[in-house]
Amino acid sequence: MTDRTMPTVRLGETGPETSVQGLGCMGMSFGYGPADTDQSRAALERAFGLGVTLYDTADAYGAGDNERFLAPFFKAHRDEVVIATKFALTIPPDDPSKRIIRNDAPYIRQAIEDSLKRLDVDVIDLYYMHRRDVNVPIEETVGVMADLVREGKVKHLGLSEVTADELRTAHAVHPIAAVQSEWSLFSRDIETQVVPAARELGVGLVPYSPLGRGFLTGAFTDAAKELTDGDFRRSQPRFTGDNATANAALLEPVRRVAEAHGATLGQVALAWVHQRAAAYGLAVVPIPGTRKAERVTENAGAAHLVLTEEELALLEPIAGQVAGDRYADMTFTSAGREQ
Ligand SMILES: NC(=O)c1ccc[n+]([C@@H]2O[C@H](COP(=O)([O-])OP(=O)(O)OC[C@H]3O[C@@H](n4cnc5c(N)ncnc54)[C@H](OP(=O)(O)O)[C@@H]3O)[C@@H](O)[C@H]2O)c1
Repeated sequence: MTDRTMPTVRLGETGPETSVQGLGCMGMSFGYGPADTDQSRAALERAFGLGVTLYDTADAYGAGDNERFLAPFFKAHRDEVVIATKFALTIPPDDPSKRIIRNDAPYIRQAIEDSLKRLDVDVIDLYYMHRRDVNVPIEETVGVMADLVREGKVKHLGLSEVTADELRTAHAVHPIAAVQSEWSLFSRDIETQVVPAARELGVGLVPYSPLGRGFLTGAFTDAAKELTDGDFRRSQPRFTGDNATANAALLEPVRRVAEAHGATLGQVALAWVHQRAAAYGLAVVPIPGTRKAERVTENAGAAHLVLTEEELALLEPIAGQVAGDRYADMTFTSAGREQ
């Protein structure tokens, strides 16, 4: 497929120019049950063919496996893709519920070398701090990240799940191109403080899990029963117990809007993120994750879907009705530290 029609945007005032929608690659190696590598490779090539240029990974996804898996794809298209990866988080393979977070200089120094090696590249286009270790001043962490830019190992800096104050402090040390945080019809906590701060500073937004980790596509009626063993979502509050069925019932307005456009629920969810960001005057590049080529095409179609004001109003109350937090431990999120 060579129809490279996806529009582009500058991700933050100092950031890279990328397609208006990226591809989340995490599920290809980690988190959402078994993945078929041939299918994932086809999804990557489909995205590239459609003009998707931003590809999101992290050293934590499968303890380096995701970066290694993506390396041949990046090599084949190096000059035409924006490679985004992250440091700070270790998820022990023998205990996937555990999180070890490091933001200190020796850790970052080692992490960048390991990521460059696994990705088999000389430079990473967008390097994020994945999670915040509150024991390390953010000035110190971003200071080291800025050194990586000066050394030519990294082109642009990003931060994931930071608070507005953390973003402001970091941005004063070195321009931050993008904040990556969860943002969707189900998760809107960042609109209170983080989004206005990003707007004020000229920082771009990369919404992760824009499909509510699949929920917003209508894939689940009783997620607690439908998710397979080894799927990380089984431990997430929104996918468990009564919350799972209560949240499935919230999709009715999404379904109505989708029907009106002959679109899918997922396309409505993605179009909503684009329009919500536009309302704030923010550069935005959501990174829906999928391992399936046909879903890449479907998701890319959302870049051309425009919802009416009435439809946006119909979707407005959903986030306030969602049952369960977006993580079991919210201290690792911006909202958890802002409360
Ligand atoms: N910074 C962070 O802390 C953080 C946290 C989480 C994720 N991320 C990044 O954000 C990316 C996206 O987030 P996410 O994967 O958690 O959630 P998501 O994009 O909201 O949803 C992904 C889920 O939706 C399914 N899906 C995708 N397109 C679909 C479609 N058109 N129809 C039906 N189902 C569809 C996928 O299944 P299939 O794969 O089977 O299609 C997968 O189960 C990740 O890949 C990762 O790179 C970052």
